[in-house]
Amino acid sequence: MNQFVNESDVLVIGSGAAGMTLALHLNRKFSVSMLCKDKPMEGSTYYAQGGVAAVLGEYDSVSSHVADTLDVGAGLCNPEIVAFTVKQSTKIINWLVELGVNFDKKVERDGSTAFHLTKEGGHSHRRVIHAADATGKEIALTLSEHLKSRNNVRLFPKYVAVDLVTKDSLGLRGKDCIGAYALNLKTKKVEIFKAKYVVIASGGASKVYQYTSNPDTASGDGIAMCWRAGCRVGNLEFNQFHPTCLFHPNAKSFLISESLRGEGAHLLLPNGERFMHKYDERKELAPRDIVARAIDHEMKKLGCNSVFLDISHKGEKFVRKHFPNIFSRCLELGINITTEPMPIVPAAHYTCGGVVIDKNGKTDLPGLYAIGESSFSGLHGANRMASNSLLECMVFAKSAAEHIENNPRVLPEKYRIPLWDDTQVVSSDEEITVSHNWRELRALMWDYVGIVRTDKRLQRARRRIKVLQQEIEDHYSNYRISSDFLELRNLACVADLMVRCALQRQESRGLHFTLDYPNQSEELRNSILTPSSFN
Ligand code: FAD
Ligand code: SIN
Repeated sequence: MNQFVNESDVLVIGSGAAGMTLALHLNRKFSVSMLCKDKPMEGSTYYAQGGVAAVLGEYDSVSSHVADTLDVGAGLCNPEIVAFTVKQSTKIINWLVELGVNFDKKVERDGSTAFHLTKEGGHSHRRVIHAADATGKEIALTLSEHLKSRNNVRLFPKYVAVDLVTKDSLGLRGKDCIGAYALNLKTKKVEIFKAKYVVIASGGASKVYQYTSNPDTASGDGIAMCWRAGCRVGNLEFNQFHPTCLFHPNAKSFLISESLRGEGAHLLLPNGERFMHKYDERKELAPRDIVARAIDHEMKKLGCNSVFLDISHKGEKFVRKHFPNIFSRCLELGINITTEPMPIVPAAHYTCGGVVIDKNGKTDLPGLYAIGESSFSGLHGANRMASNSLLECMVFAKSAAEHIENNPRVLPEKYRIPLWDDTQVVSSDEEITVSHNWRELRALMWDYVGIVRTDKRLQRARRRIKVLQQEIEDHYSNYRISSDFLELRNLACVADLMVRCALQRQESRGLHFTLDYPNQSEELRNSILTPSSFN
């Protein structure tokens, strides 16, 4: 059948901040295979704008960063995990600086230089270190440059992981994860990747929504694969909508960083009036759930397609210095942000829930880790505080690497992962159904599982997703798999999990707002889903 079997100590699925940080922290004695389904840089990390939240300013402290994170998380953060993460923030930034990440600096009054810290929603003061408005690109390029000198790491671009392989799926005793199948997009063949440790670093699932700030890679593949393999997932109802994405027919998913508001930008109605003071005393710098809901409310009330964000009062020199990329992208689209407001709308941005993990990134299955946006660590609670995500990626990547090193695993000598059998299926002549179902799924998630929910809308979504999942299963049994089909299958799986979590939550909290239960309940509870194969 001419299939490849690749073998390494560690298989990392994803080459964003989480995957690359893990690979760089692992001892060189470990052989590492790193898969990414597109070009290595294509993922949310590369597009991150605002920066990384960390305790750096003289006036800042671990307790203040922890308190802000807990407050924004609306009661559901795990305080132990928040403290664990924030305590490591300074060290992680020092590590990035040592690697050569060029964060912005400012000149102090006495002539010395210090890092320029910006402010974002929910932070009680300036805490976000950044490289202008393209922090993710600077971090991603630096990490990938260092990976090039690691002979123990082999990168596999354009490989889409299909499913995990566990011992019990081979009829052996134990639930250990021992590898994965992945589709090589060049040969269109499925290959086997055997490994002692498998790390899911495949990012979030915001592509499940019609309008998103995320790149195409964010289709929740890792979350769906872990669920199918038998891991618990949690808090998937908390999908964060970023308040300010550019509203323009030619701007696919272009984010306007929250740091604009941190530096003084105002949100305006079409008639030029500010409105955030009606919703929260922190105005434009209230946590994202509050700002996104306020914009949604105003847009629905006025029947307008967008509201506006204005930073023109800060002057051209300031805007071009701090936001060079946003300035040039908007100018390309005919908007000069130094002289006029930009039209913005909220869009799906971040998956707060994911695969249940512990401090070391360990999932429920021995040998299987999940880190970064695909995981549910307990850091974000019901709403992630801005710029805490890159921090989480790097902190948990480091602790997972340490855990792998300190916990040797031996795989049984004689196991054999069966080759992928596609002899019983044919090439699809119905790919149109994949794109049709894809559009339908993303539109229904936007309409029924969006910023404002009701039980009726969620039930409607659930029924439609079930029908789509049946069609997807039929397709899977009869046709050869393609990258688009695999993404659709994973998006439908994650959409179903999101709706199930949302239906469990009979209250409004953080990012989950439902007209049927507008108040917060007294009970503090995560929404944990357990697969039937769990026990
Ligand atoms: P990603 O960086 O998304 O990487 C995922 C990787 O997994 C990719 O390599 C992809 O190819 C691979 N992959 C996925 N599925 C498969 C599969 N089936 N097989 C093989 N490979 C697969 N957070 C902050 O803290 N600060 C910010 O300023 C900030 N700004 C943001 C701006 C934008 C526009 C966006 C979209 C997000 C922003 N975020 C920010 C969030 C943050 O960037 C992400 O949460 C974080 O980068 C996720 O990193 P990750 O390593 O988990 O995943
Ligand atoms: C932004 O720059 O607004 C994104 C920050 C984040 O998502 O943390």
